[in-house]
Amino acid sequence: MSTIPPVIAIDGPAASGKSTVGKLVAETLGFLLFDTGALYRAVTLTALRRGIPIEDEACISDLARTIHIDLIPSQEKDGRPYTVLVDGEDLTWAIRSEPVDAHVSAVSAYPGVREALKHQQRRIAWQGKVVMAGRDIGTVVFPEAPLKVYLDATPEVRARRRCEELRARGEEADFDEILAGVRRRDAIDSTRAMAPLRIADDAVVINTDDMTVDEVVDAIVQLARERFDDPA
Ligand code: DC
Repeated sequence: MSTIPPVIAIDGPAASGKSTVGKLVAETLGFLLFDTGALYRAVTLTALRRGIPIEDEACISDLARTIHIDLIPSQEKDGRPYTVLVDGEDLTWAIRSEPVDAHVSAVSAYPGVREALKHQQRRIAWQGKVVMAGRDIGTVVFPEAPLKVYLDATPEVRARRRCEELRARGEEADFDEILAGVRRRDAIDSTRAMAPLRIADDAVVINTDDMTVDEVVDAIVQLARERFDDPA
């Protein structure tokens, strides 16, 4: 039997801080951060750019099987947690734009898309020493993960954090609009038929409403040190 690699699964709803926290946990432990939402975002952006209708499930599933997505450590000093290349083109910020936010939940509900991206995710998980952030890592993609964390926060807190993040990048942000978007994505992500957002039975749930980023990071690093022999 092969040994299960050290993988930390961090799941949770939109804007719950998975990538911010995941990046710091990964840095502390010397792990790689693999933010799996970037894959779904890259497929969505490419479909929009190519004029593929978002309702065209077959065509979008084909796209997910054929485009080449890389997540690589960042070379830029613009606050990005990593660089996203789609067929070699740097689309790191473009995948975070409003049109992608509006359509990514629909795209990620397609079984063909999920199946295509699951293979890529498992391949990277098996390399080990990876923090995987997503919605279904602990339940579907890598249920073998020795440490599973579910990050939660109320929709209002998540919308406020998302506003602050956009404004810090000099973009406009309307709280009510963002809150409505967070709620809409929660509803789609948690009710879709395939791999809906849910808490794995053996996940540690952390409600971050009243916690700072550093407190959340410390809690997860502590769990990793307890769980893994030599996590650094
Ligand atoms: O974490 P995020 O906001 O970047 O995720 C974007 C979308 O991708 C989100 O609406 C749900 C979907 N997603 C998913 O279905 N499964 C994952 N493992 C990661 C993201």
